[in-house]
Amino acid sequence: MINVCVLSVYCRIKPHPKKWSIEDNCIKGASVQPKTINTFCTKSCFLEVNKEVFCTFALQFFQSLFMETVLSGIRPTGNLHLGNYFGALRNFIEMQNRHNCYFFIADYHSLTTHPTPGDLHGNVRQILVEYLAAGLDPEKSTLYVQSDVPEVLELYLFLNMNAYIGELERCTSFKDKIRQNPQNVNAGLLTYPTLMAADILIHRAVKVPVGKDQEPHLEMARTFANRFNRMYKHEYFPEPQAYNFGKELVKIPGLNGSGKMGKSEGEGNAIYLADEPEAIRKKVMKAVTDSGPTEPNQSKPEAIQNIFQLMKVVSTPDTLAFFEEKYNSCQIRYGDMKKQLAEDMIAFTAPFREKIKEISANNAYVSKAAKMGKEKAQANAATTIKDVREIIGFKPF
Ligand code: TRP
Repeated sequence: MINVCVLSVYCRIKPHPKKWSIEDNCIKGASVQPKTINTFCTKSCFLEVNKEVFCTFALQFFQSLFMETVLSGIRPTGNLHLGNYFGALRNFIEMQNRHNCYFFIADYHSLTTHPTPGDLHGNVRQILVEYLAAGLDPEKSTLYVQSDVPEVLELYLFLNMNAYIGELERCTSFKDKIRQNPQNVNAGLLTYPTLMAADILIHRAVKVPVGKDQEPHLEMARTFANRFNRMYKHEYFPEPQAYNFGKELVKIPGLNGSGKMGKSEGEGNAIYLADEPEAIRKKVMKAVTDSGPTEPNQSKPEAIQNIFQLMKVVSTPDTLAFFEEKYNSCQIRYGDMKKQLAEDMIAFTAPFREKIKEISANNAYVSKAAKMGKEKAQANAATTIKDVREIIGFKPF
């Protein structure tokens, strides 16, 4: 049914070369405007499914024809912070115009470390709301919840048959996790990399934007993809590669003097997109500093460097230059700098905060976005599962 619909759009392109020029809409990188498709669909006599579903499939079809597939996931273990925004989200928003993007919330994965989460649905919803608020567009990307696509689990099962215990046990993240939590060494934790490989391979994604810490998992996904192709003598899965969009990734440090901003680095270390101004002021004012430079143009210790780096991403260049000058001439007062940083962070996060509140209050919109993501992701995942079943040798009776 879906294929028929998509094909009908495809055939109809020809009689409308201007409106539907593929060069205009796809190859140059700008995505096909769903609205244009909408207008067209109203007139289409092939319309057999609901118009919206039809349009998004058509869009996805065009995108998959000309754009590489990008996929990334995030575990729903906390709100999004500035580190997530600059390290990942901001790039995802850019990518959705140039690639066929899948972004999902990895709720199955969260069970490997939190098997009895207090409010699983609430956590997933919060991330979904924040993704939407930050600018991920459910019409451009496929934005979905992992557990809405149980096809992933079938691929996970197949991949697990060809994943060796030894290689899974040697995985650094497994070793770290069992060290941190020796009373919960479960099989899900051991097979975390196969589930992650299934996430990627189910959409045959070739580019995976992830942080350095995830690269060993990506390497395993490549191993599993190649092994599958070799074992079943079928070049089916492409090799997924790590992908960092554009220029060098901006590293966002935390507020406690060392290391990056993160949810596991303790309360007060991260500034969340949803934080209220008062919470931001409190955290920033508590940020680690020292007693100040003693010589002009002295190099900055890590904690101070971090405050400057944060200012660099949220404040104006003039403000940054002002405090640089104060530092270099040994006149800096960290209290003033932190006050300024807090206000600039409040201003920077304000549009996110407002949008998060607005979207969160709009249940109909959140459900619609989730449903749309689920339908698009499932349609694509079902194709992969059908192919994989055939390749392995399952046959219908
Ligand atoms: N393991 C990733 C993390 O902890 C989350 C994740 C799950 C993921 N599946 C993925 C990331 C697939 C990229 C692709 O951050």
